[in-house]
Amino acid sequence: PTYEHIMVEKRGEGGNVGLIVLNRPSALNALCDPLMKEVKQALLDLEADSCVGAIVLTGSEKAFAAGADIKDMQNKQFVECYNGNFLNDWNVLSIVKKPVIAAVNGYALGGGCEMAMMCDIILAGDKAKFGQPEIVLGTIPGAGGTQRLTKAIGKSRSMQMCLTGDMITAQQASSWGLVSSVHPPDQVVDEAIKLGQKISQHSKLIVAMCKESVNNAYELSLSEGLHFEKRLFHCTFSTNDRSEGMTAFIEKRKPNFTDS
Ligand code: HXC
Repeated sequence: PTYEHIMVEKRGEGGNVGLIVLNRPSALNALCDPLMKEVKQALLDLEADSCVGAIVLTGSEKAFAAGADIKDMQNKQFVECYNGNFLNDWNVLSIVKKPVIAAVNGYALGGGCEMAMMCDIILAGDKAKFGQPEIVLGTIPGAGGTQRLTKAIGKSRSMQMCLTGDMITAQQASSWGLVSSVHPPDQVVDEAIKLGQKISQHSKLIVAMCKESVNNAYELSLSEGLHFEKRLFHCTFSTNDRSEGMTAFIEKRKPNFTDS
């Protein structure tokens, strides 16, 4: 498909890493509805592409995304938001099975920060800025800013960010555990692709199971989570890839995974 607000490519060996670039520079990648529809379509296409083992989501050096589109929201009313379930389909990012890595440069604000947090791993450029400025606009985060952020960095820091609207730097985001690592801005996307490529070398089936299990740490009590993890671990013993992985180790060779 041809897109207006995003660019989609396949990178890495054999095109095993899908790359989605948000490309609406006139509005610092503000997440208008047509842009989010394109992101959804691109994610579903990459999810269905059996060559692709991981997906990288990025923006520009100036902005990952400056949030939901304020011009679109200016005149919205409650009934319209409620009946139309405004912004509900953003969650496709959080339900894809393949790992999604956010490569964040510049502003990741409001819905932009929330979108990064829907990804599985966040890498940041050293000029990146994260924030939940909704409070300044007289609203509150609506796609995980009060929830995922709190789970990522803890209550006091999340409260401070959400209640002041102040941005934090990449360095703060890193020391608070919001991002895994910080890189020079022109290297973040390459680092994310390298990471995606590494993940793509494993069994896609087992990677999906592993991601599902980590995500359950945010949903379940410890005992339920441990139980779910143990059962999925048992499930891996019904796959060809588990057998191949262990056999390859014993035979001192690289595994040849078939995602089955
Ligand atoms: C619509 C936006 C926008 C946004 C920037 N622009 N952010 N348009 N929605 N969120 C537009 C500006 O209007 C401007 O267009 C152009 O992008 C360049 O922005 P400037 O402000 O001129 O750039 P700069 O001075 O460099 O400042 C950058 C900035 C600032 C600090 C990021 O743009 C800013 O504060 N943006 C809003 C950030 C924000 O509040 N995000 C949260 C949105 S609420 P023109 O046409 O004037 O040149 C949200 C709710 C999430 O996300 C709920 C999710 C469910």
